[in-house]
Amino acid sequence: MIREYLRALPVFAGDLPAFDPASAPDRPDELFVAWLVTAVEAGVREPHATTLSTIGPDGVPAARVLIVKNVDERGWQFAVHATSPKGRDLARHPAAALTFYWAAQARQIRLRGPVRRASAKDSAADFLARSATARAEAALGRQSRPLTDQPVPQVDPEIVIPEWTLYTLEPTEVEFWQGDEGRHHTRLRYIRAGGGWGRELLRP
Ligand SMILES: Cc1cc2nc3c(=O)[nH]c(=O)nc-3n(C[C@H](O)[C@H](O)[C@H](O)COP(=O)(O)O)c2cc1C
Repeated sequence: MIREYLRALPVFAGDLPAFDPASAPDRPDELFVAWLVTAVEAGVREPHATTLSTIGPDGVPAARVLIVKNVDERGWQFAVHATSPKGRDLARHPAAALTFYWAAQARQIRLRGPVRRASAKDSAADFLARSATARAEAALGRQSRPLTDQPVPQVDPEIVIPEWTLYTLEPTEVEFWQGDEGRHHTRLRYIRAGGGWGRELLRP
């Protein structure tokens, strides 16, 4: 019953943007920013939300959505609390994958590679750019702990916590995937090679 229901749901329907890999820029961060701006202009909600996959202590992947803070030629930046499950995963095994999916455009972007901790100064600047409520909650360092009805302790809103950690995922590969209703998907993969990037097209 659910099997038929799922099979009948449309995928990659509607007006989709064009993607010509031949005119793609040399660097994946440049293509990412171009796609991001196209997504924002098309009204895609939270295009800077991405799935961060890490390796759990039991070797099983763990994934959750978070917000990307910056992108440049060094990589994709995001911040975590060091004591959260994802923070502990990254400290134990400093490698990750990021997956963006913009359904209205049938676009997926996949990255994987090592992660590098930013300086304490850059992590602090990211922390201070958060809202006062977000800073207060982070200062308590209790993300993903079981919810209890203990009173919320007061936290100094000016505090900067050393556990707040900005990471840069320095991808070894980045794939841009443009879906097509007829399943003629276009896939362009950038692969880090020496100081630059190689490129290849993949079968759908
Ligand atoms: C759209 C969206 C954005 C989110 N942004 C963040 C974020 O920027 N930082 C964060 O720690 N969690 C964010 N979350 C919550 C995470 O998905 C997750 O529940 C939380 O970080 C705990 O993950 P962990 O237990 O694996 O550490 C977001 C969730 C959604 C759906």
